[in-house]
Amino acid sequence: MLSSAPWLLCLAAVGAIAQDDSSSSGSTSSDSTSSSSRTSSSSSSSTSYENGDGQTTLSFTNSWSTITGEVPTSAFTGSEFTYLSPTGQSTVQTLTTTLTTNGTVETVTSTSTSTQNSQITATTKSVSLTEIGGISSNATASSTRNQTASSTSSSARPTNTLPCNGFPEFCNRKYSNITQVVSHNSAFVVKNNAASNQALPIQDQLNDGVRMLQGEVHWENNTLWNCHTSCDLLNAGTWESELSVAKDWLDANPYEVLSFLIVNSDFTNVENFVPAITNAGLLPYVYEPQYVPQYRDQWPTLGEMILKGQRMVFFMDYDANQTSVPYILDQYTHIWETPFSPTNQSFPCTVGRPPNLSQEDARDKLMYLANQNLNTRIDLSSIGIDTGSTEILIPNTAEVNVTNGLYDQFGQAGATVVNCTGDWGRPPNFLVVDYYNFGVPMAGSIFHVAAAANNVTYTLDCCGKAQSAAPVLQGSFVGLAVALIVTAFLAW
Ligand SMILES: *[C@@H]1O[C@H](CO)[C@@H](O)[C@H](O)[C@H]1NC(C)=O
Ligand SMILES: *[C@@H]1O[C@H](CO)[C@@H](O)[C@H](O)[C@H]1NC(C)=O
Ligand SMILES: *[C@@H]1O[C@H](CO)[C@@H](O)[C@H](O)[C@H]1NC(C)=O
Ligand SMILES: *[C@@H]1O[C@H](CO)[C@@H](O)[C@H](O)[C@H]1NC(C)=O
Ligand SMILES: *[C@@H]1O[C@H](CO)[C@@H](O)[C@H](O)[C@H]1NC(C)=O
Ligand SMILES: *[C@@H]1O[C@H](CO)[C@@H](O)[C@H](O)[C@H]1NC(C)=O
Ligand SMILES: *[C@@H]1O[C@H](CO)[C@@H](O)[C@H](O)[C@H]1NC(C)=O
Ligand SMILES: *[C@@H]1O[C@H](CO)[C@@H](O)[C@H](O)[C@H]1NC(C)=O
Ligand SMILES: *[C@@H]1O[C@H](CO)[C@@H](O)[C@H](O)[C@H]1NC(C)=O
Ligand SMILES: *[C@@H]1O[C@H](CO)[C@@H](O)[C@H](O)[C@H]1NC(C)=O
Ligand SMILES: *[C@@H]1O[C@H](CO)[C@@H](O)[C@H](O)[C@H]1NC(C)=O
Repeated sequence: MLSSAPWLLCLAAVGAIAQDDSSSSGSTSSDSTSSSSRTSSSSSSSTSYENGDGQTTLSFTNSWSTITGEVPTSAFTGSEFTYLSPTGQSTVQTLTTTLTTNGTVETVTSTSTSTQNSQITATTKSVSLTEIGGISSNATASSTRNQTASSTSSSARPTNTLPCNGFPEFCNRKYSNITQVVSHNSAFVVKNNAASNQALPIQDQLNDGVRMLQGEVHWENNTLWNCHTSCDLLNAGTWESELSVAKDWLDANPYEVLSFLIVNSDFTNVENFVPAITNAGLLPYVYEPQYVPQYRDQWPTLGEMILKGQRMVFFMDYDANQTSVPYILDQYTHIWETPFSPTNQSFPCTVGRPPNLSQEDARDKLMYLANQNLNTRIDLSSIGIDTGSTEILIPNTAEVNVTNGLYDQFGQAGATVVNCTGDWGRPPNFLVVDYYNFGVPMAGSIFHVAAAANNVTYTLDCCGKAQSAAPVLQGSFVGLAVALIVTAFLAW
């Protein structure tokens, strides 16, 4: 996903932008001047090319936007980097979190100990949840709350009806056991700009069900920016401003766990990401794992994360350092991914990054991400540009409906999930898509794909129409806690 040459995406978007043009941000209405015009964008744009002093400059002028910038000279393949090994689990941590929730005091104490060798060793972990909502672990005590349900000890098993990430079923499911939809380059939603990857803004993405944001972040002038390859090409604002949107959304949606996959395009120090997270007010929400790396079966449930208030999970592809910044998790010791920038609709479910990951570790230790964003190759010389390389990659917007599609048919996300599940025994944890609102047989079909993988039913009216999931009854937090605790006891 560290796109080798996102300036190519910009060009792509010249074609893609047609769908944005009439967009009322109401999804289905947007679209879709003929697919062919998207990929042969040159017909509707004029293009100029300069080459002097070893600097290659492309500028695109069309009816929507102008993009000028440097052309990267080499493509990133992902093999240039030294990857951490997932086999050394090596950090000792003690977490103590004290939360105050609406008149009640909740103390969550977790202690984990692991030794400094390269195996998963016996781990002691004690989690005590006390005084949640003033209710002891005796379930019958719930009658002391003003709840209409009359409870006897035999019928006192509360059923949680409160959704976690949209579904009550998820509250007791591990974070690592859920398929989530990821918007590729989430922030690149600049109206009428050829370099956008998404048609709908982040608020809509989240309200519709996207639960992981992703994108290139660049370090320039001591600030992090959402830029396409270079900030000269497309600058979608500061990363901090994007995080502020996430923070507001988390505030308004207290039972949601959100993730962010940072593409550290400039390989800048992980410490440089801290101020933006802090200034956006996200620090209280960040999730800090108990293990480094944390293996798939060691993740908490969404319910546990919500109760602890740790609802923002950060991953970063390169140069994370969990000793220095424990809440920015190293992607490739937690999540492997299928080949990035795919151009072939067969979407093989093989390990693309990290290279050299053993099949065993891929299967047992890590979560995995499917790059379901199709690209197409175009030959620049056909539109009068000679870059010295014969072809470039752009997102295949002509096929985006199919790519995001529901069915187990060639090229569709539904087929990817079926294929991946067959290969790995479980569906992908993350489905990365461009223009998430497009699809077949309905807008937002990718959410139906994820729901099917999760054995739930997506019922929202996608896309761009959903209200914030917000208003929740006062006291629901208590209800959730009680339900989770009781479930936990029953599980013992
Ligand atoms: C992968 O393994 C091969 C052979 O073991 C090695 O030459 C190569 O450097 C490794 N690549 C990475 C990225 O670690
Ligand atoms: C608790 O409820 C009060 C209103 O009854 C509200 O003002 C306050 O923000 C709530 N606190 C929390 C932590 O939800
Ligand atoms: C649960 O509550 C009932 C009634 O309040 C009480 O009789 C019982 O001893 C309690 N059980 C436990 C395990 O605390
Ligand atoms: C329970 O709540 C209802 C509605 O909020 C209220 O009318 C009723 O008086 C409450 N009962 C008690 C015992 O507090
Ligand atoms: C994942 O969730 C499903 C559905 O709740 C459950 O049946 C399964 O046991 C879970 N797997 C793991 C490894 O937790
Ligand atoms: C960084 O500073 C330089 C010099 O002032 C300016 O030209 C450039 O636009 C700045 N970059 C960003 C992303 O603001
Ligand atoms: C990670 O951070 C720690 C603490 O700041 C530092 O000692 C260590 O050298 C860093 N590791 C790398 C690989 O930069
Ligand atoms: C796509 O991948 C399949 C399976 O690997 C292969 O048979 C096919 O030739 C590829 N198509 C193109 C256009 O490369
Ligand atoms: C998934 O697709 C690949 C080809 O892309 C194929 O080799 C593999 O057998 C498929 N797996 C399943 C379970 O269908
Ligand atoms: C893509 O799907 C949308 C509905 O999601 C539909 O309105 C549009 O016509 C489709 N476009 C193409 C090119 O099939
Ligand atoms: C899927 O959900 C249905 C109820 O909606 C349930 O009966 C079934 O056991 C679930 N399957 C799995 C594998 O969790």
